Amino acid sequence: MLKNVKTIVVLLLLSSAGMNAQNKVPVYLDDKKPIEERVEDALKRMTTEEKIAMIHAQSKFSSPGVKRLGIPENWMTDGPHGIRTEVKWDEWDQAGWTNDSCIAFPALTALSSTWNKELASLYGKSIGEEARYRNKNVLLGPGVNIYRSPLNGRNFEYMGEDPFLASKMVVPYIKGVQSNGVAACVKHFALNNQETNRNSVDVIVDDRALYEIYLPAFKAAVQEGDVWSIMGAYNKYKGQQCCHNEYLLNDILRGEWGFKGVVVSDWGGVNDTKQAIHNGLDMEFGSWTNGLSWGTSNAYDNYYLAKPYSEMIRKGEIGTKELDEKVRRILRLSFLTTMDRNRPFGSFGTEEHAIAGRKIAEEGIVLLQNNNNILPINLSKTKKIAVIGENAIKMMTVGGGSSSLKARYEITPLEGLKKRIGNQAEIVYARGYVGDPTSNYNGVVAKVSLEEKRPQAELTAEALKVAKDADIVLFIGGLNKSPNQDDEGHDRKELNLSYGQDKLISELAKVNKNIVFVNISGNAVAMPWIKEVPGIVQGWFLGTEAGNALANVLVGDVNPSGKLSFTFPVKLADNGAHALGEFPGGDSVKYNEGIFVGYRWADKNKIKPLFSFGHGLSYTTFAYGKVTADKKQMNAGDKITFSVNVKNTGSREGSEVVQLYITDVKSSLPRPVKELKGFEKVALKAGEEKTVTFTIDKTALSFFDDKKHDWVAEPGDFEAIIGASSTDIKSKVNFSLK
Ligand code: BGC
Repeated sequence: MLKNVKTIVVLLLLSSAGMNAQNKVPVYLDDKKPIEERVEDALKRMTTEEKIAMIHAQSKFSSPGVKRLGIPENWMTDGPHGIRTEVKWDEWDQAGWTNDSCIAFPALTALSSTWNKELASLYGKSIGEEARYRNKNVLLGPGVNIYRSPLNGRNFEYMGEDPFLASKMVVPYIKGVQSNGVAACVKHFALNNQETNRNSVDVIVDDRALYEIYLPAFKAAVQEGDVWSIMGAYNKYKGQQCCHNEYLLNDILRGEWGFKGVVVSDWGGVNDTKQAIHNGLDMEFGSWTNGLSWGTSNAYDNYYLAKPYSEMIRKGEIGTKELDEKVRRILRLSFLTTMDRNRPFGSFGTEEHAIAGRKIAEEGIVLLQNNNNILPINLSKTKKIAVIGENAIKMMTVGGGSSSLKARYEITPLEGLKKRIGNQAEIVYARGYVGDPTSNYNGVVAKVSLEEKRPQAELTAEALKVAKDADIVLFIGGLNKSPNQDDEGHDRKELNLSYGQDKLISELAKVNKNIVFVNISGNAVAMPWIKEVPGIVQGWFLGTEAGNALANVLVGDVNPSGKLSFTFPVKLADNGAHALGEFPGGDSVKYNEGIFVGYRWADKNKIKPLFSFGHGLSYTTFAYGKVTADKKQMNAGDKITFSVNVKNTGSREGSEVVQLYITDVKSSLPRPVKELKGFEKVALKAGEEKTVTFTIDKTALSFFDDKKHDWVAEPGDFEAIIGASSTDIKSKVNFSLK
């Protein structure tokens, strides 16, 4: 009897202490309990100081947990192309670890140009494994800011100009990352489409463009990808910093979309305690404690959400309701990541990841022009190959800002070519021009020194000499990751290539007409010499396996199947933002082109792009049948299915990205000529034929009515258009919405 009484007392004591009586585990540590119960249990054990500590950084990339309760710290990492090297506690310099060299995956522009959702999933899974192994629980990526101008220095970190494509690619990436118990942190929310004045520029945009162009990928990340965290943007919207923006964070993200995850500030994106308390932000990172410029070291207590906040609470100026909400969200994040006992262990720098990266790179490379079938390189007829250009030897996994990596290795294009064909043909290299001679970037030292003292005339003469008697010339140039190229913190100054490349390419084309230009970049560039150069390849920033992937495509081991995720305009004025003189603005920037971004602008104004959105060639050919619809008319609640046959009419295996665009024939508000609403990548053997189907519902027909503040599908006539790009239209079928 006495024993029974004792047991009851113990049980009562345990339950009053929030313990699970059976296994004596506190509720918050009991992973059989619903997460919300665990959150409440942990929250009530925490002091106000512990809560305040949790909502702001303690070092460059970490924030405290609660040691006393066994709740681990949160550790963030860039993102989005690989796991960033360890930096010192309060400095950006490398910490000097020797076991933190990652696999560098291709830049996100390359991923989006694969148009392959399975590869987005593989990318996410692989990079998530790397983050997990390195004990990071938040990966700062992917980025889905829309490609508004080709001058934006950070376009390479994003997924192109189309909201539908970006939405479809971001979801599997997130799921892949989070399957490791690592949160993806989709960035930068929102309207972060330029680097000029990035901390202060106020973006003025109409609601239609906001909802139809700039928000969909974020919405998909939240509602379809179930992303666990989101990073605010540096810029302002409606005069408020996006990191604590009432409209974007409270009204849209949390209100309209029901986001339950954590909002992390961009590093230094917070500048107001009250707004940070009230407007949807949960965690403050990287603040400059002396306004928005720089600060003293280890000043974490001075963060807007540190002492200034606790002082307000202490003085009774504010309660702890908002603080508790923030902490709840952070606790939820901990339970999904660091405190999930069943999450996998991850793996780092593995061959498997390198191969995944190579596969993505190979599928992302876009064959833009292939006159006279100059590619693939015909090895039986090629004795000498001239490789010219700095980017053939330059490491591209370094530089560019926060996405810079310390890769386990990086195969440059020249190395890749030598490895693949060096024993079959003679490969001669000439630099041709000097762009960025830096060979040491934050502790990462290039294998070859890029120092070059010879004058341009000598470099040109050498390049022309080498090119003259070669069977084929591969000019491997483009942009790089230094300021005013593809680089965080700076926009480009011009659409043309820098460092005299245009002139050099023209000169080379005069001495050898068998010339291929490989554009290593994350952005469109002008090509004034396009008619003189038969072969053009978009080679992106491809990561660890860059040179191998490129060589495999150039010699034809891999048949290219990438398609552009953004438009290449002939000139800047062919882009809406630039045509209207609205880039980069000053204190504010007006998105006066509205919804007409990318191909939507080109279509509307009947401008022929240099290369269209969705364009990409193959070493084989495809024939399209006529698209059919399973009904002529659909009701609002119906679905409609379109089918089209695609046949590989060439002599080798290849993949084609079949694109579905929808046109609203007549509408009450102006609409784009057509919009991407479906795509499928099909692999076809030589001679093989497959039927590709697309099923849509009325969401694919809707536009955002800013007066009603709602999506509207207007009854009437529509066209379903099948294209091999946004300008290579194969067939159309009419249908109507009742
Ligand atoms: C960038 C973010 C990045 C963060 C941390 C910021 O400057 O805008 O994208 O994740 O730094 O490095």
